[in-house]
Amino acid sequence: MDKKSVKNKIKRLRAAINHYRYVYHVLDREEISSEALDSLKKELFDLETRFPSLITADSPTQRIGSRPLKKFKKIKRDTPMLSLNDAFSSGDIISWIKRIKKIIPDEQLDFYCEYKIDGLAFQVDYIDGVFAIGSTRGDGIIGEDVTENLKTIESLPLKIREKRAVMEDIRDMSREIKDIVAQFYNGKLSIRGEAFISRDNFKKINETRKKNGLTLFANTRNITAGSIRQLDSKVAAARKLDAFIYDLVGCDKIISHSYRHKLLKILGFKINPYSRECHSIDEIVSFREECKERRDSLGYDIDGIVVLVNNNNLFNRLGVVGKAPRGAIAFKLGLKQTTTRVKNIEVQIGRTGILTPVANLDPVDLGGVTISRATLHNYGELERLGVMIGDTVIIGRAGDVIPDIIGVVHKMRDGKEKKIIIPSRCPSCGEGINREEKGSLIIRCNNPNCLDKKKRIFTHFISRKIFDISGLGGRVIEKLIDNNKVSDPADIFSLKIEDFLDLDGFANKMAENALNSILSSKKIEMNRFIQSFNIKNVGKETATLLASNFKNPEDIMSTSLEELISIKDIGEITARNIYEWFRNKDNIKFLRKLREAGIEIIDEKKGTTLAGKKFLITGTLPSLSRDVIKKKIRLMGGKVLESVSSKIDYIIVGKNPGSKLNRAKRLKIEELSEADFLKMIDSK
Ligand code: IVH
Repeated sequence: MDKKSVKNKIKRLRAAINHYRYVYHVLDREEISSEALDSLKKELFDLETRFPSLITADSPTQRIGSRPLKKFKKIKRDTPMLSLNDAFSSGDIISWIKRIKKIIPDEQLDFYCEYKIDGLAFQVDYIDGVFAIGSTRGDGIIGEDVTENLKTIESLPLKIREKRAVMEDIRDMSREIKDIVAQFYNGKLSIRGEAFISRDNFKKINETRKKNGLTLFANTRNITAGSIRQLDSKVAAARKLDAFIYDLVGCDKIISHSYRHKLLKILGFKINPYSRECHSIDEIVSFREECKERRDSLGYDIDGIVVLVNNNNLFNRLGVVGKAPRGAIAFKLGLKQTTTRVKNIEVQIGRTGILTPVANLDPVDLGGVTISRATLHNYGELERLGVMIGDTVIIGRAGDVIPDIIGVVHKMRDGKEKKIIIPSRCPSCGEGINREEKGSLIIRCNNPNCLDKKKRIFTHFISRKIFDISGLGGRVIEKLIDNNKVSDPADIFSLKIEDFLDLDGFANKMAENALNSILSSKKIEMNRFIQSFNIKNVGKETATLLASNFKNPEDIMSTSLEELISIKDIGEITARNIYEWFRNKDNIKFLRKLREAGIEIIDEKKGTTLAGKKFLITGTLPSLSRDVIKKKIRLMGGKVLESVSSKIDYIIVGKNPGSKLNRAKRLKIEELSEADFLKMIDSK
């Protein structure tokens, strides 16, 4: 490799590492395994060792030892902290309002608009008027206890405003409101808001870090999240965070969102001064225009406006879809964008048979991450954009993760671009395809035997999210399919050792491991079981909802369509999909086969006994294989890491432990034998 390509490679590696680290530590999501991330870091480290002149202060390799601890107490809340769906245009707002009108056709709609602060969401519970617990959003229900760090935010009162003064300020309000407010002094008040750091502060902190050769923070959100999720609250204090409060939890009797803001202010909370009521789409759009104009002079970062149905009663009636309330939406200000060239188009076949055109791009950096592929979502979108091979295109991030192509830079065309041909046959199985016009042109392969589609169905089925059959990688599954050992995923459970030995390159031990892995995957929580069915529109959220309403799939099967529709937060289309899935004879056969194979549904609660605990395994254990113990840990909500760090809670030690044990001893990590571990999970 010449120096230029090394440089390029280093750049891409750093961007990827930073991205995955950010996603893992800040967003609490794992896009790639920690093993994979470690291997990227290793590759970067090796390159930098060979070319030391390319080392920079902000390289992820320079981070050693500065990783903050993440052992926070978990806080469970009754009212989940939700997220918001996004809108990008007034057209999106019009469709949002249409969806609302369908549910409450005869109601007068008024809105409340506020700035969407780009920081970190939190909740504070005041008990008897005193700051008691502060928590991050976490997964919505379970947050992390960051009380000490939130207490460093000067604008957050440690005590709500004195009762006498508050009562005086609300003297003209109703009896009901007065009673609610009085209870805040003799009970609980929970408020929610967004912590942030001013742009000035952010700049100052980065300048100091640069001088000291420390990693720079990428943006204000990053630093806010990093400061609040610190074990040492002195660090948070030094960062001088700030916060806007935007909601009062519960208190359903408070008639509107604007009223809530009024009360919050009286109680002594800092609310954003620019929020206001809007009464029409035009008013919402001009609120956003004003916000755009003000954006650069605000002194803090925002990424859009939040529009809410102002009337609280209507807001509640609109309910929640997935994890977002139907009565609110984030109207974004603009996407982060960049441009690059389309090298070619690849077709991906999804588990539902939809053909998705995916563009291979000249690698490009977008917000710190190198992008080399972007989805075009569907062929309708491809036609709408008129993308050609060789085009320079604008890439953006719709949410924050998946990059997509937003448009073509026509002026960059030189006439050599090539038209993209819409397939008339499935590129995998060669069968004819179906064209569906559902607002956009969707091309679908309906061949149940299409190999690529089948592979995607199987990969999903064995993935960690679903049956977690880690002993069967994607390659093994492909071989099993190619050799006709399985025709649907339920067949996995009746595989015999001979089936594996028949495959190329399969030795006894490997076959045994694979079988063990299958055997140990027969217990599954209801929500994951439902996800394994591949029902259209039923993802994790809906599966979880179903799991909290039904004990087993057979109960769903005997439920009427009306009953399904009446379940709160399940939309009619989804209810219909669920109903129909359970009436298809192939599906019924598939479910029966799974049950006959001994699939057993386990208690959801069991899945949280090791919640948040991190384990490391070293040496050979007396009875359990690596795969099996890892799965046990994961099933109970724990995590298995591969390298020693202070993040680890327990190290499970077998025969001939490696050097990991010594390092763990130095860090005083608690040691467990296999028996200790089994006792531990048994007693919980
Ligand atoms: S209202 C149901 N108001 O945006 C959620 N959210 O995707 C109601 N956010 O993590 C949220 N500024 O923390 C609301 N003025 C504001 C906000 C705001 C920022 C954040 C919120 C949440 C995310 C929603």
